[in-house]
Amino acid sequence: MEKALNKQINWELYSSYFYLSMSTYFESINLSGFANWMKIQAREESEHAMKMFNYLVEQKNRVILSGIASPPSDWKSPLDVFEDTYGHEKRVTGLINKLVELAVREKDSETKAFLQWFVKEQVEEEENASKIVKRLKLIGNSKSKLAVFDKELSRRK
Ligand code: FEO
Repeated sequence: MEKALNKQINWELYSSYFYLSMSTYFESINLSGFANWMKIQAREESEHAMKMFNYLVEQKNRVILSGIASPPSDWKSPLDVFEDTYGHEKRVTGLINKLVELAVREKDSETKAFLQWFVKEQVEEEENASKIVKRLKLIGNSKSKLAVFDKELSRRK
């Protein structure tokens, strides 16, 4: 379980890197509201990593930090970014579910309870990404509608 949680910390930190890279991509195409949304997303991912980090420390387990892979840096469009985001979150949900299965197999009820927060969080994460994908599909090629949406996303705190 300890090893698996260490691996998940790396995934969460990679997720933070991934969204930070998306944030700077959005800045480069002058969509600062989207960039803001992604920067906040990146911060949330670091918080997810820290939740696991603190849990392992509290359990008197070791945290071994390994290298974080480089994220992609370019996408074709905002829709491409959010399809990538949605796919990434679905992958993370699968990883969290595997951690829960492992906790059950190892009869580690404390970790199973700890992971419930992440199970719920993933429902929200997938929903947020999927909503934005749908909205971007509706927006299509409309620059003015994209600008309105960008403004909306600039309000995420
Ligand atoms: Fe930490 Fe977006 O899952």
